[in-house]
Amino acid sequence: MISQRVRTITPSATLSLNARLQELRAKGSEIINLSVGEPDFETPKFIREVAHEAMDSGWTRYTATSGHPEAREAVCEHVQRTRNVTVDPDQVVLSSGVKHSLSQALLSLVNPGDEVLMGAPYWVSYPELVRLADGIPVAVETRIEDGFRLTRESLEKKLTPRTMGIILNEPGNPTGRVSSASEVLELVEFARDNDLWILSDEIYEALIHEGQLNSPFSIDPERVSYISGLSKSFAMTGWRLGWSVSEPKRASAIGRLQSHNAANPCSISQACVSTALSKMDHPELQSMYSAFKARREIVVDRLDKMPGVNFVSPKGAFYIVVDLRAHLGEGKIAADSNEFCLGLLEEFGVAAVPGDAFGTPGCIRLSYARPVEEIEDALDRLSKFLETGSKDS
Ligand SMILES: Cc1ncc(COP(=O)(O)O)c(C=O)c1O
Repeated sequence: MISQRVRTITPSATLSLNARLQELRAKGSEIINLSVGEPDFETPKFIREVAHEAMDSGWTRYTATSGHPEAREAVCEHVQRTRNVTVDPDQVVLSSGVKHSLSQALLSLVNPGDEVLMGAPYWVSYPELVRLADGIPVAVETRIEDGFRLTRESLEKKLTPRTMGIILNEPGNPTGRVSSASEVLELVEFARDNDLWILSDEIYEALIHEGQLNSPFSIDPERVSYISGLSKSFAMTGWRLGWSVSEPKRASAIGRLQSHNAANPCSISQACVSTALSKMDHPELQSMYSAFKARREIVVDRLDKMPGVNFVSPKGAFYIVVDLRAHLGEGKIAADSNEFCLGLLEEFGVAAVPGDAFGTPGCIRLSYARPVEEIEDALDRLSKFLETGSKDS
């Protein structure tokens, strides 16, 4: 009785790991969870205060389905300030998070059988969101040796007459990659030359530890939808607030769809958009950004000392992809990264995500959105696992 569309969705590769993690915790094991995808910080007080005020001053009803004018205007100002593009509030559709914006944009752009390119490693939901829109996800492999750089050449190899669009992600999850201006230009020019649309997921935009964000939207706001939200950059994962900014026709299509399948995102969260976006230099946020940067140094420093471990130092977000191929295979610690992650969890109490979930077998993803003591403890355990292959040996 389940629709064909939903039947084809593969269950999250992290589900079984998470189920086991919960079981182990229920039995009293202390697990360090480096599989997390959210900041371990509270939403800043200055933002929470705005929400309290909003509840008391009538922000409790339906808003316009694409978002309250004040919040949409705040996104326009943010786009002007950070991307140097003038946009109109009609081009902004607020949503219940970036996942939601991506889904609405894909449903508005993809026809059955359309192919959508994405660099691998990719964020786990991209392929499934494309499939849900009846499209075909096409992973374009990138190499750790090239710093996970997505190139025009590799995209060209996957180009077919059915290719309609590309999903880009800056800074990237799981790689933490931040591309240079010329690298981003190359990708936008490829899209231009082949008349493809681009969805640019920039949800980690404030979490840049090295270099600067080069948004594809600044280069071609007609072709690119800029998509972002409050979850990661403001420690507001539970507030469910995202947005897409697109050329007027695309924005109107997304808005029409949303008016029927979701209506407006949470009004109280919308009331916080203006304060959050205009105060990114607030000390509460800045100290969170500095903490992530400091943790990155620790993780990189520690992994550097582990034999047979390969990685690219992440420039943004709060993840690192660790290539463990030297330790995997017959007669080694584990056959593959799924087995490795299970062993790391069962024997050493550390949860990490196997790379298969991101289209990068042989690797694992570690998150450093945990306190320093936990990260250090987890890396000690990982090191021990790599050295001995087991706790008991
Ligand atoms: C790259 C990327 N895009 C989107 C999302 C989802 O964001 P939201 O909480 O705004 O739906 C995540 C969350 O992990 C992510 O890593």
